[in-house]
Amino acid sequence: MAYKRGMAIETMDSSRGTGLRSCVCPGSYDPVTNGHLDVIERAARLFDEVVVVILHNPSKPSGVFTPDERRELILTALPAGAPVRVGLFANMLLVDACRELGATAIVKGLRGGTDFAYELPMAHMNRHLTGIETVFLPGNPSLEHVSSSLIKEVVRFGGDVSGLVPDHVLAALRGRLSP
Ligand code: PNS
Repeated sequence: MAYKRGMAIETMDSSRGTGLRSCVCPGSYDPVTNGHLDVIERAARLFDEVVVVILHNPSKPSGVFTPDERRELILTALPAGAPVRVGLFANMLLVDACRELGATAIVKGLRGGTDFAYELPMAHMNRHLTGIETVFLPGNPSLEHVSSSLIKEVVRFGGDVSGLVPDHVLAALRGRLSP
């Protein structure tokens, strides 16, 4: 599929003007982990609605899963009726996706100091660009070691990551990467 700048692949109703407070949980999600899902579920308790935004840059090396596959893996992981939608955006700034969605805030999980050092300049830049605030949630300590890249590496060499990603994600990873 060809991605144009700013194209939202999923059609979404904007919550602008409805009084609803929605947040965006952005990321690459290649693939979603239980650490991501923990943050998404906690964000859903703080806001009326969460939009999980998968940001895709076609000029970067492609991931293990296509953006559409990443979206399906997230949708399958979400509990029925959760106030969460999943949007796919390409070649655009996160703040522009937030504006398009009428989002009040960006929510990010922090596993530790390294995440903080990476995320803080982005939070400042995003606020500089449009005034949008970033809310940091401390990551679940039992999932501190979980990242999509480490999960892929471990699966690629036959290690067991069950309990760190949903079962269907584990099956998809094994199907794609197992030796
Ligand atoms: O899961 P990741 O790879 O850590 O997510 C990083 C992501 C996609 C959220 C970040 O790179 C991003 O916001 N990219 C969109 C482009 C953008 O807005 N860049 C300026 C950030 S200040």
